[in-house]
Amino acid sequence: MVISPLLVHKSKAQSIARGLSWNFYNSSCPQLVPIIRNQLRIVFRNDPTLPAAVLRLHFHDCFVQGCDGSVLLDGSASGPGEKNAPPNLTLRPEAFATIEALRRRVHQVCGQVVSCTDIVALAARESVFLSGGSNYRVPLGRRDGTNFATIDQVLNDLPFPQANVSSLIPFFLSRNLSITDMVTLSGAHSIGVSNCSSFRERLYPNQDFTMDQTFATTLRRICPTNTSTRGTNLDVLTPRLFDNRYFVNLVNRRGLLTSDQDLFTDARTSPIVTTYARRPLFFLEQFGLAMIKMGQINVLTGTVGEIRANCAARNARTATSTMLEVDGRRTGDSNILIPSTDNPQLWVGAT
Ligand code: HEM
Repeated sequence: MVISPLLVHKSKAQSIARGLSWNFYNSSCPQLVPIIRNQLRIVFRNDPTLPAAVLRLHFHDCFVQGCDGSVLLDGSASGPGEKNAPPNLTLRPEAFATIEALRRRVHQVCGQVVSCTDIVALAARESVFLSGGSNYRVPLGRRDGTNFATIDQVLNDLPFPQANVSSLIPFFLSRNLSITDMVTLSGAHSIGVSNCSSFRERLYPNQDFTMDQTFATTLRRICPTNTSTRGTNLDVLTPRLFDNRYFVNLVNRRGLLTSDQDLFTDARTSPIVTTYARRPLFFLEQFGLAMIKMGQINVLTGTVGEIRANCAARNARTATSTMLEVDGRRTGDSNILIPSTDNPQLWVGAT
């Protein structure tokens, strides 16, 4: 009997972290999803580069002390905020402003009941959906953290573009995300841009031998020296469309970052890349499921954390006591309940 891989994954994706639910705001803010979708439709029409920036914000939020909106917080007397850490310096100010504008609108309509981190998770889904990707479901009920990570923590928690598959794997496994999830989520690089500084080591002093020659020539024109500060699209084929062409690029050795191209070079991940390059709809579906998992990393729920009145600042009255509570709770492992999607059979059936 042949079991559809999509069905296997769909049923697994139904279990979600304790405290989250598929209909969390159904009674407290039934207009939440349409408000966010409609507002973003307008914002993205005016700036088609923004979906990528918003999607990346969700990733940088979730990988550093969990999806708790900590990346949105400004620095305080306790130190600089996560925004000041080098990997976050290329997060776009417009993406932060978009989230705060959404929060303002949502709180105007529903009151202060929806967390900033839930707004980021929903906005990330809209970034994918409105760019051509899937309309995956987003479990809701996350609460906002009251503290932010140190610069060192951010540097330790976010994978770097020069990383190969062996270096990337621990970043994902330690968050209950599988190697398959890692490849799938890297498909986010189907939209958006990167600065020359993130891939210059592939051009200078010597060209990375895994890179297609024509592509290398083009990149050298864009980044003529190893100090160039311009940027280029992560997906050369369809830079603003959320599709599987990123994986087609990898197969054609036209991946931009080392962390992208090595997914095809490494034997552990290349079959997954090839599958996605061949099966566009399968990729879109799997991407949605992987986002549901990523969006549940170390979430705060119930009475832990707070609902911020301003995404860039914690609420005044909860300052110190909640910080301790949050710190205590976070010493444990991730509470994602979705089982691993690394099912070898899936990939056999998928090709
Ligand atoms: C696998 C490890 C990853 C690494 C090493 C990585 C690294 C990077 C780098 C270096 C950039 C370009 C930054 C710049 O130069 O301005 C970038 C952009 C981007 N990343 Fe990733 N990333 C990874 C995974 C992810 C994931 C999991 C997501 C989302 C689910 C994501 C979403 C994005 C998006 C959408 C952009 C474009 C942002 C824009 O155009 O403003 N990345 N990433």
